[in-house]
Amino acid sequence: MEELRQKYLTEVAGAADESALETVRLAAIGKKGEVSLKMRELGRMTPEERQVAGPALNALKDEITSAIAARKQALGDAALEERLRGEWLDVTLPGRSRGAAMGTIHPVSQVWEEVTAIFADMGFAVAEGPQIETDFYNFDALNIPSHHPARGEMDTFYMHRAEGDNRPPHVLRTHTSPVQIRTMQEQGAPIRIIAPGRVYRADYDQTHTPMFHQVEGLALDKSISMANLKWVLEEFFTAYFGTTVKTRFRASHFPFTEPSAEVDIQCSWEDGQVRVGEGDGWLEVLGSGMVHPSVLKAGGIDPDQWQGFAFGMGIDRIAMLKYGIPDLRAFFDSDLRWLRHYGFSPLAVPTLHGGV
Ligand code: DAH
Repeated sequence: MEELRQKYLTEVAGAADESALETVRLAAIGKKGEVSLKMRELGRMTPEERQVAGPALNALKDEITSAIAARKQALGDAALEERLRGEWLDVTLPGRSRGAAMGTIHPVSQVWEEVTAIFADMGFAVAEGPQIETDFYNFDALNIPSHHPARGEMDTFYMHRAEGDNRPPHVLRTHTSPVQIRTMQEQGAPIRIIAPGRVYRADYDQTHTPMFHQVEGLALDKSISMANLKWVLEEFFTAYFGTTVKTRFRASHFPFTEPSAEVDIQCSWEDGQVRVGEGDGWLEVLGSGMVHPSVLKAGGIDPDQWQGFAFGMGIDRIAMLKYGIPDLRAFFDSDLRWLRHYGFSPLAVPTLHGGV
């Protein structure tokens, strides 16, 4: 008995972790443990022998049980100590500054948000379409048939078809106008949306890049007129530039509108600097008009019941005007010095009440 006691108390004290301790417990007082087997022998003893051996074995079992419990507690405490040492944290250390590494919001993103906020306030939702379009959505549905000169003038990027595939090629959309058709097909009339997005044309100089941004506008209802278009645009420019901006509507021609107008905003030119909302100069900023009946039909909308206006405006262009950025090409160079100079704080989200 004393041998067993020595053996197991030593093993308990030496157990390095909980699983080692469990192994010792099973070997000593588990169902087939050595002490348990001894207890089973009690039945074969004489009453006198049992009177001595019984209490002694029980006492041994209790002693081992409490030794195991004590060891378990000690192991737990040690593990906790270890963790506390590892996870120790000095909350009095000064914080690390992240200011230097913080990025900025690109002027295009900023203006995109500003435009969205202003039109949202006038009840316009945001619609989207794919940047890779079929020639149906980019041209035909917009009343630009394949022989139309506008196709040639757009400097379109065509996507190659596989050898032997004779279907017309996909194009990188040359304008956001195809979103008009997709929205008509998806939502039906009435409609009041803007569609900001990327567009593509093979062109590159100080004011043109092969990828740029437009925002399309479309409002369809029973009695929408050019007067509504004029009010909406003047409201927009005044909110966007933060000053009353006169507009000039010039008769023009687009295949997808009838009548069509190009819109100029009032500006002054002084030593190479453009200022919007003052002076007697004019700057063209968008194309617009009343949606052509053929375009409504292509969108599945009955032109005898519905009518409305559409416009398309260059986002990069109005960003350059508002924030005095001279060269469009730098917009897409990812030059960190340019981004830090012209970028906006990520924490200042444009809203109408906060100012755009
Ligand atoms: N899609 C034209 C372009 O990219 C711009 C435009 C003109 C859009 C007149 C319109 C519009 O919705 O009515 O040059």
